[in-house]
Amino acid sequence: MKSPELFERAKKIIPGGVNSPVRAFEPYPFFVERGKGSILYDVDGKQYIDYVMGYGALFFGHAPEFLVEKLKKIVEEGFLYGAPTEEEVQLAEKIREFYPSMEMVRLSNSGLEATMHAIRLARGYTKRRKIIKFEGCFHGSHDSLLVKAGSGALTFGVPSSSGVLEDLAKHTLVSRFNDIELTEKIVRENRDDLAAIIVEPVPVNVGLLIPKIDYLKALRELADYSGAVLIFDEVVTGFRLSPGGAQQYYGIRADLTTLGKALGGGLPISAFGGREEIMKYLAPEGKVYASGTYCGNPLSTKAALTVLEYVRENPEIYIGMRGKVERICKFIRETAEDKHLKITVNHIESMFQVFFTDAEVLNYDDVKKSDIELFKRYFHNLLKNGVFIPPSQFETCFISTAHTDKDMEHTLNSIQNSL
Ligand SMILES: Cc1ncc(COP(=O)(O)O)c(C=O)c1O
Repeated sequence: MKSPELFERAKKIIPGGVNSPVRAFEPYPFFVERGKGSILYDVDGKQYIDYVMGYGALFFGHAPEFLVEKLKKIVEEGFLYGAPTEEEVQLAEKIREFYPSMEMVRLSNSGLEATMHAIRLARGYTKRRKIIKFEGCFHGSHDSLLVKAGSGALTFGVPSSSGVLEDLAKHTLVSRFNDIELTEKIVRENRDDLAAIIVEPVPVNVGLLIPKIDYLKALRELADYSGAVLIFDEVVTGFRLSPGGAQQYYGIRADLTTLGKALGGGLPISAFGGREEIMKYLAPEGKVYASGTYCGNPLSTKAALTVLEYVRENPEIYIGMRGKVERICKFIRETAEDKHLKITVNHIESMFQVFFTDAEVLNYDDVKKSDIELFKRYFHNLLKNGVFIPPSQFETCFISTAHTDKDMEHTLNSIQNSL
């Protein structure tokens, strides 16, 4: 078996043996040889139907032909220019077509960068310090947002990672998702110093949470009331929930939006953008600094342009993915009922997650109350049955356009065995 050996070797040179913590699981993660369509092939000759899908990035599955063809051509024309290209302009214009609220757009490389820059920009624009985030929402591993609720009353944040300064974390206020009363209270108490409210409109980093009706609208109103910048972190929901993401889906306009993941179809690219008045604060015109060697690199830019064209030309992909997710979720509920298991399944469009509880799951506290040990067993059972879902309860399963009806049959069988 190569995977356990590789994991031992990796642990000696790469902390924890992985380059991003969630990839590690007991007793060892499988090491990947290649991916194609909906399938991951490991170094030991096993294959898995993939519902991790690059944590949401692989909207079209692994190595989709339409993208591979385009990228083959572009690699011969250079990887990085350090000077602007027409494609960057085209991409920004295209993004604005999908997201009218993104009147101006900047390209970056990862979700982390996009949200980090959006927060700095909101602070620079409002000349205020505090931001509100929601318990369980994840926006990338940078200091202002690696913050969790302090013990006792939820308000002032404390670092959720060693190395993050308390002096910085105290400016991040933490509210509860789907709890508008608490959020309203925090906004009222901090109105004069509130720079931004940042939210995953559909949180996917805490399992999957669905916003209550009018919840996002209420956040919009609270931002208007306080003068804070409303940031929709659509790194995952962007293009996935609908071509115009959560903003199109729920009919809400954010002041700033961050995009990533599906935008590049698996290549590293992200974007942040929003109201022109705010975006003009960015250097070189304004005084808020954001930069990056690889921002707008030709390979990722071409990938994103190709993705957006594909989405525009194939609107039926959403119906196909939604149907498959609904089928899986219905099957999970029925099977769990047969087996007298307490289960709640949250799903929306191409995303779903299972919680071993019979209570409604609306926020981080609800997720923590579900049976997490049972989830781990479910994960390992599925893996043995050739289905790869994220190894943590605090993640979400993603389907892609590459998942086939045959995959569905195999998946339902595996779920039957695993539950
Ligand atoms: C909603 C959301 N925002 C931001 C990020 C950070 O993106 P990246 O991992 O590309 O830095 C993630 C990553 O999972 C995410 O889910």
